[in-house]
Order: sequence, then structure tokens, then C-alpha cells
Amino acid sequence: MTDSATSYRVLARKYRPQTFAEVIGQEAMVRTLSNAIATGRIAHAFILTGVRGVGKTTTARIIARALNCIGPDGAGGPTVTPCGECVHCGSIAEDRHVDVIEMDAASRTGVDDIRDLTEGMRYRPVSARYKIYIIDEVHMLSKNAFNALLKTLEEPPPDVKFIFATTEVHRIPVTVLSRCQRFALRRVPIDQLVEHYRRLAEAEGISVAPAALGLIARAADGSVRDGLSLLDQAIALSGDAPIEEGAVRDMLGIADRNLVFDLFETVLQGDAAGALDRMDSLYQGGADPLMVLQDLLELSHFVTRLKLAPEAGTGDPLEEGERERARPLAAALAMPILARAWQMLLKGLEEVQAAPAPAQAAAMVLVRLAYVADLPVPADLVRTLTSSEPVRAPAALTAEPAVDRSAGVSPAPAAAPAIGGRDSRGPSLAAALPVVHAPAPLPASEAPPSAELDPVPQSFAEVVALFDKHREALISSHLKEHVHLVAFEPGRIEFRPAAGAPDNLANRLSELLIEWTGVRWLIARSRVEDAGAPTLAQEEARRAGALRHEVAAHPLVQAVLETFPGATIAAVRERFVAADAATEAAADDVGDAQSDDGTSAGEDGS
Ligand SMILES: Nc1ncnc2c1ncn2[C@@H]1O[C@H](COP(=O)(O)OP(=O)(O)OP(=O)(O)O)[C@@H](O)[C@H]1O
Ligand SMILES: [Mg+2]
Ligand SMILES: [Zn+2]
Repeated sequence: MTDSATSYRVLARKYRPQTFAEVIGQEAMVRTLSNAIATGRIAHAFILTGVRGVGKTTTARIIARALNCIGPDGAGGPTVTPCGECVHCGSIAEDRHVDVIEMDAASRTGVDDIRDLTEGMRYRPVSARYKIYIIDEVHMLSKNAFNALLKTLEEPPPDVKFIFATTEVHRIPVTVLSRCQRFALRRVPIDQLVEHYRRLAEAEGISVAPAALGLIARAADGSVRDGLSLLDQAIALSGDAPIEEGAVRDMLGIADRNLVFDLFETVLQGDAAGALDRMDSLYQGGADPLMVLQDLLELSHFVTRLKLAPEAGTGDPLEEGERERARPLAAALAMPILARAWQMLLKGLEEVQAAPAPAQAAAMVLVRLAYVADLPVPADLVRTLTSSEPVRAPAALTAEPAVDRSAGVSPAPAAAPAIGGRDSRGPSLAAALPVVHAPAPLPASEAPPSAELDPVPQSFAEVVALFDKHREALISSHLKEHVHLVAFEPGRIEFRPAAGAPDNLANRLSELLIEWTGVRWLIARSRVEDAGAPTLAQEEARRAGALRHEVAAHPLVQAVLETFPGATIAAVRERFVAADAATEAAADDVGDAQSDDGTSAGEDGS
């Protein structure tokens, strides 16, 4: 900071609140404290907790004044609104009151320091109502020091008060904590920070663009002092000129927001090459790759919120300014894609942080994101698989058609350039699925009256389907599990029964087939050991295994598995138009009719 040449006093010091009214963002704490003082129930010890720069030390000093203020006329008692005029208020503000002892535990952590302190407690306050010990960064005290302190806290002299402050309350022994009234100071919300900084800038006669204030407030991350230091920096950088958004961006290493939007769109269109170009120019422009990913993460969060609530971002000048640009994105991007983007960016951030070459790592995250964001969401995938069209992953941004081109979102062209070309993804998932000619089971409502005959099955699978259709579930399951087919032609079946097949299976088969088809069936049992094909169930299991293999090897699935660590393939299901149509036509009955006919092969992970 440049304070050498000028008499410039850093804002944080210059604007330390002197009253509770000037403390921002801590309304709850102020209210409780006011009540305690108003009702005269003043604890012996307070502990103020919260992250850096939210007003702990400030509040400790105000409490000291509140307890010792005697009012302008010298007759007042403890008050939540210290007068600022009496001798006590004055000397506490100037840090020179004999009865208010401020100690920084960070530098005086030893038991001797505490002993000095407790020694002093034997003497009554010199001039004030209370002797007040403010121990800042109290978590830094040694174990012995805490023990010494504890003794005093157990039997505090009536005119001694303690005010502790710490950023790390979890490091305070519970025995100490339990003897203190605790006030948790919270991170100050962005809108309050913006307003605060705006007022201070005005008081300083400095013009700051609202968006620049927003950037500073956001970077402050809830800490009033952090933001004030940034404002100091910005003032030093721009001299007498107004502080513009761009200057603050540069100062903070934050990429131009519009460029971040461009990148976000490009990457979610699946255009990896384009995304790398954009990232590169951001990098050349001085943006930190890590920050860019952070921006993208924030953006995906914002767009998600906007999708759920059109008024999202109200009160945050930055987000309000960005709503127009983000709205078409919120309309165009499906929720699963946003959720996926968020997850990948979050994981990517970690990687970039750990990577020896962050820029490269960030580029890889973008490529991965482009590659996966471009993939259809599961619902679309299923839809695609059930249509006869060859699969082409619809670009994320085209998943929902309501895209406002004027706002810079254009649907990906039919052949959006992806790294290595789309074909490098290997065969489409649909092509990888084996084709199964399964009869579409007739919905029960359309089943022919019993007088009408069923068509003669043309395959063993059709035979089984016929048993399913007639709800002969038991026989059907024997056919699937205990029948090794040796030969089949319409009207003639030769099979070898496996152990478990009922003795009368052949008879029942022929009886029912004659009844249903009106054709005499010749059912022969083969006694030859090992004769015949695998059972349908075995075949099914083998096919499912192969399918699982195939699916697991598919680039799409691999990308998903890579994206979601810990994910496994739980089940592979095939979907067919015929089955779907039947499902729709006979919603109630179809469950029985097709559950085992092989058209909706389901398999649970084993
Ligand atoms: N809640 C607040 N309202 C107004 N100004 C604040 C607030 N909190 C901090 N500030 C500003 O930041 C400066 C530093 O605050 P303070 O020393 O009280 O923070 P702290 O919580 O004690 O931080 P640390 O944990 O670093 O000790 C103050 O002088 C003031 O300018
Ligand atoms: Mg402090
Ligand atoms: Zn006073």
C-alpha cells in the first residue's frame, strides 16, 4: 500500500466504528448485547467470534465504552449507546484508558503473561466502573495460560470484565467457553458491504463505479476490512481518477465478465477448441486460470438460481447487471446439464489448485466439460435410443429450443466442432446395442377373443412370449430357465430339459400350443447329454454381461464414470419402440405381459 508519501490513513483504521450503530451486518449481536445492558444482566466475560475483519476488536472496544461510559453529565450508567464525550469514552477511543487493558494473545501467549494480568486484577479499577481486559486472538494462549485464566473466570472479582475475541472458537477450551457469553459475528452480506463502501467512498470524495464496488464487496468475502484494504488499493492505483470496473478487475485478476460468459457458452455448446481459444485469450489478458474456473463455477450457480427464481441476484449489483445476459442461458440450459457443469467445475478447481501447471490443468477441465456438457442428458439419451434415428448427442444448448440468439447464445451447429471430431467418440450407444427381434406383446385389451387363434410362433422366443401373453408364468419361466433348445420349427420343438424342469413340461407345452394356435405341435425331449443351446436365461445373462461390457467401454459411459467419481454401472436396460408403444397402449396389463419376454431386459449390478 502507498501511504508513505501522503498522509493517507488506511480506510479500515480511519473508519473504525465508535458506536454499535456504525457496526454493519451484526444486527443480531447488537440486539442481544443491547438487551443484556438494558436489563443490567452483564456477563463477566464475553467472547466474540467470527472470521477476520468482521468487527470483533471493534466490538470489544465499543463494549468497553458501553460498560464504562458515564454520559456527558458524568452521572450515566452502562449504556448501549456510549456517549463518546465523557472522559472514559474519549480515552478508550484513543487506546489510553488505564482500566481497559488490551492484550494480544498472539504475541503474549505464556502463562507468565496471564499471571501478570491476574496480578493486576487484585487492584480495583483506577477511575472507571470496570476494569476490562480485552484479550484478542485468545485461541493463541497456551494451555497453562488458559488454566490460569480459568481460575479467574471461576471467581471473577466483581468489577472485572473480560472480552475475548477469536477467529478460531474451536480452539478455545470448553471450560473457558462455558463461562463466557458468546457473540458470533457473521460475514457481512454483499449488499451491506456495497452500501458501506459506497458511503465511505463518498465521504472520501472518491468516485467509484457501482460495478467496481460490487467486485470489491464480492472479493471481500464477508470481511469488511478485507474489502476496505482492496478499496485502499484501488484508490492508490487510480490516483485522482474515478475508479472503474475494469481497473478493479485487473487489480483483482478477475476476467472480464462478458468474456467469462462467452467462455461459459462456448464450453457448454461442446466446443472444446473454441473454449480453449477463449481461455487462452483470457490468460493472455492477465486472468488467473483458477479465478476463471471460479467465475465459471459462480456463473453456473447463478444461472441455476436464475432458472429456479427469475428474481435471483436482487441486491447484488454485479448479479443484477448480469441477469440480462444470464437469462437466456437459464432458459436454454437443462437443469441436469447445469448440475453436471457445477460438479465438474468444482472438481476441476481442486485439480487446478493442485496442478504444477494451473493453466494446463484448467484447459483440461474445460475440454472435459465441453466433451461432457455436450452429451445428452439421460432422458434425451433414452429418447434417442428409442427412435430409429442414429444417435447424435444434442448439444447442451440445443436441448431446449428457447434460445435468444440476440443475447449471444446460438444453438450449436449440426456438426459442432469438437476436439478430435465427433466420430472419435466411437460407435453410438444405439449401434452398440444388440438388435433383438421381439414381438410386440399385444395389450390385453386388444387380445383376440378366446375363440380366435394365435398366430403360430415362428421362433422359440415367440413361443415363450405366447406363454407370457396367456399368463402361464410358471411354464414360461421353465421354458426360459430349464430348456436347452435342440431344434425348432413352427409346429415342432425338440429340447433337452435341464434339472429342475417338470416331467410333464413337454405334455403341457403341446396341449397349450394346440389350444392356442390350432396347430398340432410335436414336442420331443432329447436325452443326449449336453445337447441343445444354452437356455434363454443363460443366453440373457451372457448377453447382459456382454452388453455391460460394451456399455462400459463406450466413450460416453466412460466420460460419465470419469466425471462422477465413485459412480458404477448399476443396470443396463434396453429400450425398444415396440415395448414402449405397448407400454403406453396397455398401461395396466403390460407389466405381466412383457416382464420376462426379453424385450425389456433389466439386470441389476452383481
Ligand atoms: N461490522 C463492521 N462494521 C463496520 N466496519 C467494520 C466492521 N467490521 C470491520 N470493520 C472495519 O474493519 C476494521 C477492522 O475491524 P476489526 O479489527 O474489528 O476486525 P476483527 O474482526 O477484529 O478482525 P481480526 O480477526 O483480523 O482481528 C475496522 O476498523 C472497520 O473499519
Ligand atoms: Mg481483531
Ligand atoms: Zn461516554
